Amino acid sequence: MTVMRKALILGALSATLAGAPLLAQGEERMRPVTDPLTLKECGECHMAFPPSLLSPGSWEVIMANLDKHYGENASLPEKDTAAITAYLTASAGRWGSPGVSGTGGTEVTLPRFTESRHFAHEHRRFTPDRLARKGIKSILDCVACHRGAEQGYYDDDD
Ligand code: HEC
Ligand code: HEC
Repeated sequence: MTVMRKALILGALSATLAGAPLLAQGEERMRPVTDPLTLKECGECHMAFPPSLLSPGSWEVIMANLDKHYGENASLPEKDTAAITAYLTASAGRWGSPGVSGTGGTEVTLPRFTESRHFAHEHRRFTPDRLARKGIKSILDCVACHRGAEQGYYDDDD
C-alpha cells in the first residue's frame, strides 16, 4: 500500500474512531521541532516533541512548571523559557489534549499528549509489558519505532 493511501485510510479511520487525527487527513508529516534552542533544551532527556501534539494552553502549563517537570527539574533561565514557550505555542496543535497526569507527586497536573484520545488510540497495543519485551524503555522513545520521527515521519513503523 502506498504511504499516501495508508495515511488517508488511517486518517479516515482515526477521524471516526478517536476524534482529531495526529496527522491531518492526507498529511504525511508531523512538523518536527526546528528551533535550535528548543531542540537543545527539550531534546536532552527525550526527543524534542512536535509542538502540534499539544494545545497552546497545555504547552504554557508545561513551560510554567519546568521545575516540577514530571518528577524532574528541567528549569531554564527565564529568557530561554520565554523563547521556547513562544515557539511551542506558535506551532501548537489546534485541538487541546490536556491529559491529566495524576502521578508524579507534584501539586500540578501536567498535560500529557500520551493521554490524548488519539495518541492513546494509535498506540493502544503497546502496553508497558509489550514495550519491555521489545526492549523499548517508554512509548516516549518515538525513534525506536518511527525511525524518521526527528524529521517528522511516522509512517515507517512495523
Ligand atoms: C531533565 C530531563 C528533561 C528535560 C531537560 C526535559 N524533559 Fe520533558 N520529560 C522528562 C521526563 C522524565 C518526562 C516523563 C517521562 C515519562 O513519564 O516516562 C518528560 C515528559 C515530557 C512530556 C510529556 C509526554 C507525555 O505525554 O507523557 C512533555 C510534553 C515534555 N516532557 C516536554 C518537554 C519540553 C517542552 C522540554 C523543554 C522545555 C522538556 N520536556 C525538557 C524529562 C525532561
Ligand atoms: C513501540 C512503537 C512505537 C512508539 C515508541 C511510538 N509509536 Fe507512534 N505509532 C506506532 C504504530 C505501530 C502506529 C500505528 C500506525 C501505523 O501503523 O502506521 C503509530 C502511529 C503514530 C502516528 C500516526 C501515523 C499516521 O500515519 O497517521 C503518529 C503521528 C505517531 N505514532 C507518533 C508518535 C510519537 C510522537 C511517538 C513518541 C512520543 C510515538 N509515536 C511512539 C508505534 C510506535
